[in-house]
Amino acid sequence: MSVKEEINKRRTFAIISHPDAGKTTLTEKFLLYGGAINLAGSVKGKATARHAVSDWMEIEKERGISVTSSVMQFNYGGYCINILDTPGHQDFSEDTYRTLMAADSAVMVIDAAKGVEPQTRKLFKVCGMRGIPIFTFINKLDRDANDTFELLDEIEKELGIATCPINWPIGCGKMFKGVYDRQKKAVVTYSDTEKGTKEGETKHIPIDDAKAVEEAIGKERMDILNDEIDLLDGASDSYDLEAIRAGKLTPVFFGSALTNFGVEIFLKYFLEMTTTPLARRSKGELIDPVDNAFSAFVFKIQANMNKAHRDRIAFMRICSGKYESNMEVKHVQGGKVMRLSRPQQIMADERKILDEAYAGDIIGVFDPGIFSIGDTLCMQGDDILYEGIPTFAPEHFARVRQIDTMKRKQFVKGITQIAQEGAIQIFQEYNTGLEEIIVGVVGVLQFDVLKYRLENEYNVEIKLDPLPYEHIRWIVSAETELDKIVGTSDMKKIKDLKDRPLLLFINEWSVGMTLDRNKGLVLSEFGTE
Ligand code: G4P
Repeated sequence: MSVKEEINKRRTFAIISHPDAGKTTLTEKFLLYGGAINLAGSVKGKATARHAVSDWMEIEKERGISVTSSVMQFNYGGYCINILDTPGHQDFSEDTYRTLMAADSAVMVIDAAKGVEPQTRKLFKVCGMRGIPIFTFINKLDRDANDTFELLDEIEKELGIATCPINWPIGCGKMFKGVYDRQKKAVVTYSDTEKGTKEGETKHIPIDDAKAVEEAIGKERMDILNDEIDLLDGASDSYDLEAIRAGKLTPVFFGSALTNFGVEIFLKYFLEMTTTPLARRSKGELIDPVDNAFSAFVFKIQANMNKAHRDRIAFMRICSGKYESNMEVKHVQGGKVMRLSRPQQIMADERKILDEAYAGDIIGVFDPGIFSIGDTLCMQGDDILYEGIPTFAPEHFARVRQIDTMKRKQFVKGITQIAQEGAIQIFQEYNTGLEEIIVGVVGVLQFDVLKYRLENEYNVEIKLDPLPYEHIRWIVSAETELDKIVGTSDMKKIKDLKDRPLLLFINEWSVGMTLDRNKGLVLSEFGTE
């Protein structure tokens, strides 16, 4: 197969959801269809002995949750699929956001009884920032669900994206019979499936065959469905692949990941509609994945994934061309040529050494401490520099200090290294003369991870005193001087490691007040690395 064919069959996406909406269950079903696993339940064990795919750190094992993300690759229907696993726990970190930077599209799982939830909103915002296609899977139709039209309305209003249902549920709860395929104009019914297997009988019945439809779903359901189809045809946005690919319209699917209703039909349509690996911007120019030789960018760095190895792994997304074993590449930021030896694909507790990989794929490379998040790798003669990954606004802050004052050196080293990996952000007081470090995280779980890692890897005990701030803003107006900013009484001035000034606020109201009081001040929720 040519490099072009290899790249064009790749589909790289992330599945996002609020915890418990069914992201893991849906991922498992995809893996089952791809033959990558044999039994559902092997992706994540919740607080049980079952092994988790990304169960790297002890803390994850202790709590039965997954903190880090990994990648799953499998083949299905002629496609080579890379699913980027984003942590599903309610506390997530910047890794979750960064993972979205490496994806070409996102599947958004929504619980039909809960609708749009806080984390769906947050993740959605990041997808929106990149304009990647978003596919909506409304899950758990085998339980009582909210009104279908209201769910669509909620997505449109809360997330500000137009919706286009590709299939439509036939009943819900115990009366959930299957879905109506609007493109093929067919009723798709399912027989009950054993939990955890993909077997079960699927029937496709043309809607025009009223007799067969009535037999399958009953007269009452059929009448309701026909009314709903008419309503939908008149009211919903029409199918527009260009708008979908631009992230302006989300195709909506309904189903039940648990019972497999509507899952395979979703996967098939999704793979047809989503994009091949997207071109990325370098110095204002788009780098075509097929027409260029190997290039990649680092989106995540993870240390000590395996205690026995004490290694640090840089995860990179290949943006163009082909990687071949032992290839020599240029690390652009470091200005050095290096050999990419033994890159790995990391799935479950296994690490597979790769001989080749293509644009769209994710590889993990041993990092002797030279990579930073956002770094570019390319061939020696090429001049590529991918645009940086934004720093996402932490929402929780704490003052941190080491308990044993003699261990200041280890403490600073440890916390700086962990910050370089991007797990936390560290800040300093501005003009107070205090040496204390302020740490900011996207999800509070990262505080525990920090404490745990400092103790276990650097032998430093720390104390964290939570601070009340929830909003951070980078100052982007060039001429603004931090000293001159007149803020509200609850505003705090700090600086980051690069000495850039920042402001902390307790609430949005203070952000608005400060903007009002300082003409010309421009604040941003995102910094750039
Ligand atoms: P997450 O990764 O988004 O956090 O969600 P996950 O798939 O772990 O699903 C959360 C719970 O919802 C699980 O139940 C799962 O079985 C259930 N679930 C997922 N999809 C469906 C569905 O389509 N219908 C129904 N009825 N339930 C669904 P649990 O009891 O927390 O865990 P488990 O013991 O079943 O694994």
